[in-house]
Amino acid sequence: MPEPADVQRGLEDVVALESRICYIDGKGGRLIYDGYDIRDLAAQSTFEEVAYLLWYGRLPTASQLAELTTRLAGLRVLPDTVLQILREMPKDALPMDVLRTAVSALAVFEPEETKPGAASIGGAQRLTAVLPTILGTFHSLRNGKEPPAPRPELSHASWLLRAIRGTDPDPLEARALDVALILHADHELNASTFAARVTASTLSDLYSAVTSAIGTLKGPLHGGANERVMELLDEIGSPDRAEEVVRAKLARHERIMGFGHRVYKVEDPRATILRDWSKKVGEAKGSLRYFDLLRAVEGVVHREKGLYPNVDLYSGSVYALLGIPRDLFTPVFAVSRVAGWTAHVLEEYEDLRLIRPTARYVGPVDLAYVPIADRGVAIDGPKPPA
Ligand code: CMC
Repeated sequence: MPEPADVQRGLEDVVALESRICYIDGKGGRLIYDGYDIRDLAAQSTFEEVAYLLWYGRLPTASQLAELTTRLAGLRVLPDTVLQILREMPKDALPMDVLRTAVSALAVFEPEETKPGAASIGGAQRLTAVLPTILGTFHSLRNGKEPPAPRPELSHASWLLRAIRGTDPDPLEARALDVALILHADHELNASTFAARVTASTLSDLYSAVTSAIGTLKGPLHGGANERVMELLDEIGSPDRAEEVVRAKLARHERIMGFGHRVYKVEDPRATILRDWSKKVGEAKGSLRYFDLLRAVEGVVHREKGLYPNVDLYSGSVYALLGIPRDLFTPVFAVSRVAGWTAHVLEEYEDLRLIRPTARYVGPVDLAYVPIADRGVAIDGPKPPA
């Protein structure tokens, strides 16, 4: 058999395609969307502006931004059929499962976007606009309340908080969430974006690609880490216990969530920005408990393992301070990343090539086929799963 090239487990360092959307400088600790440094975007832009940048490849003018903002606000309403599906969901369903199911169901009722190979900026905007409504609706229903009434005058971030909490955010809260959405909007070929592009590369549609991406983001090694960080803080309880708890976990070879990254070899710049916001929101709320615990954990992990924080270390503390329930943290990630997923799918269609890597075969060849009637004794080979 011909020998394929070396296996790159996890496709590490494999350059799979060209993209104009996002650049990660893993050694320099920089993240760039379409040429703009994430630090500038986090300091000066809004989520709507960043979504425009990712979709169109340039910053909008004031009138283009106003038009997009109005358009997104107008696309927030769910069809009655999808609302009905959300009403049928068990109250204890996992929110990521609900989100995935709702997006998949939406496709059935918005068929113009689901023809093979269909993807438009209109579809990208529709999905981006509607995810906060799906989350807010499910969260209200599971708490025995009616879905949130539309508030088209609110920004994307404010609407997301309003839809989840049922109360309007103050300016600092709205800005904190807006920054978190900006920071999570894209991240090159992360696992969920790759899943979206693989789906699109078969000439499948945008809604299918986003459904794949949501399923991929659900995993704790990708989207689910910040929830686990908060569980760790619960376990630690007070900063003086950080050393003991973290060292014990490391001794058991457990991973500490919120640390390490496949691409960043230094601190993730998103973590740097979110650390500041965790402090700022904590001060405004009169509690630096999470911040102090996280700083203590950071010190131990860096000392013991030389690992740096990633985006998930501080994001959970910001969300918790904003009153977002823990099981909505990963769905909030999806609310932001959908801008990037859809931008990548649109880009994939522009220069489509079926994504289909190859595997090094390690099984046998040339086995003689034994008719079933003659298989009296078990043939050696992999056992079926129990
Ligand atoms: N805690 C303890 N040890 C770690 C951690 C961690 N968080 N991350 C990496 N290591 C160790 C790992 O055990 C291994 O050590 P050894 O060589 O002794 O076995 C070494 O570092 C290399 O790890 P790796 O798994 O080969 O590295 P990777 O590039 O596959 O891992 C990662 C990247 C994000 C999966 C990993 O760092 C991890 O599991 N982190 C915790 C989960 C987490 O925070 N995920 C959010 C990622 S950021 C969100 C995003 O951008 O999607």
